[in-house]
Amino acid sequence: MVAGQPPSADGAEVLSTAWSRAMGLRIPVVNAPMGGVAGGRLAAAVGAAGGLGMIGMGSAGSVAALERELAQLGDDAGRFGIGLVDWVVATQPGLLDRAIAAEPVLISVSFGTDMSWVDRVRDAGIRTATQVYNAEEAKRAERSGVDVLVARGAEGGGHGAVEMATLPLLDAVLDAVSIPVLAAGGIGSAATLAAMLTAGASGVWLGTCLAACPESLLSQDGREAMIAARGTDTILTRAFDVGMELPWATRFPTRVLRNEFAARWTGHEAELARDPAARAELGAGIARADQRVTPIDAGQGVGLVTAAEPVAQLLGSLCAGAARLLGR
Ligand SMILES: Cc1cc2nc3c(=O)[nH]c(=O)nc-3n(C[C@H](O)[C@H](O)[C@H](O)COP(=O)(O)O)c2cc1C
Repeated sequence: MVAGQPPSADGAEVLSTAWSRAMGLRIPVVNAPMGGVAGGRLAAAVGAAGGLGMIGMGSAGSVAALERELAQLGDDAGRFGIGLVDWVVATQPGLLDRAIAAEPVLISVSFGTDMSWVDRVRDAGIRTATQVYNAEEAKRAERSGVDVLVARGAEGGGHGAVEMATLPLLDAVLDAVSIPVLAAGGIGSAATLAAMLTAGASGVWLGTCLAACPESLLSQDGREAMIAARGTDTILTRAFDVGMELPWATRFPTRVLRNEFAARWTGHEAELARDPAARAELGAGIARADQRVTPIDAGQGVGLVTAAEPVAQLLGSLCAGAARLLGR
C-alpha cells in the first residue's frame, strides 16, 4: 500500500505481486487472448479495471482482424497485450509483425514448439508469454527466453493440452522455473483467485469468466448459453477442428459447452474427417448461428458465470473478495 493513501475498494494492494507491479498493473489479472471473444473492447475494459487486457487472435486471426480490434481499444488504451496462435502466425504473413508494430506490453504465442518468435518480440522491447502444460515444457520455454509462463490446467476453456489440473500444474511449474508464472484454468471466483495467488502465482489469466461480459465479442446466444451452463456441461473434443478442417495439433483438443454436434462426433473424429456432408452441415449451422452445432469454448468454471456482468463490476468483486480471503 502506498503510504498516506487509503486502501482501494477492491483490495488491489493486498493482491498485487512483484510481477504485476513490474508490469504497471493495479491488479494481477490478465484476460486470456480468446480468439473471436477477446477483442479491443474487452481488452480496454480489463485495462481500465487495472489488469492487462489482451486482444486474442485465434484460428481466424489475420492482420485485418487485428487491425479491427486494435481500433476498438480507444484513444486512451494504455497498456494492453496481444495473444496469437502458433500455426496461425505461420500461415498469416505479417501477423506477428503487425502485432509487434502495435507496441503492446506483452505478446503471447501459444500452441507451438518453434520459439523463434521470442527473440523477435523481445528485441522490440516487448515482454513475452506462452501457455505450458507440464514442467518440462515450462523449462524449455524458460530456456527460450520467455518472460512469463502461463500454467494452463486441463479444466480451462478453449484449446489446451489435457495433462494436469491447474493447482498441481502450477506447483510443478513453479518448482521447475525461476521466472514468473500466471495460473489459468477454472479461475472465476474470489476463492479461486485467492487460491492461485496463495499458491505462488504471479497473477491469473482469465478466460471463461470474462467471456460472458458485455464487452466481449461473444454472440448473445453464446452469452446466454454460458450463463445457463453448469460446471459439468463442458466436453473436450476435436470434432469442431476436424469438422472445420483447422490444423490444430491432436494434442490440443478444445473444451466447449456440450451441444448436439459435440455429443454426436466426439470420439468419432476420424469418421467425421471422411464425411464431407457432415462437415458441410457444420459450416452451414455455424453460418446461421445454430446453437445445436456452433462451438462455444468454455472451461469448467462456466458454472460460476451467472450473469453478463460488466468487466469492472466482475473484476471489482473478484478482487475485493480475494483480498478479504487473503487478509483474514
Ligand atoms: C472462448 C475462448 C477462446 C479462447 N481462445 C484462445 C486463443 O485464441 N488463444 C489462446 O492462446 N488461448 C485461447 N483460449 C484459452 C485461454 O488462453 C485460457 O487457456 C483459458 O481460457 C483458461 O481457462 P478458463 O477458460 O477456465 O479461464 C480460449 C479460451 C476461451 C474460453
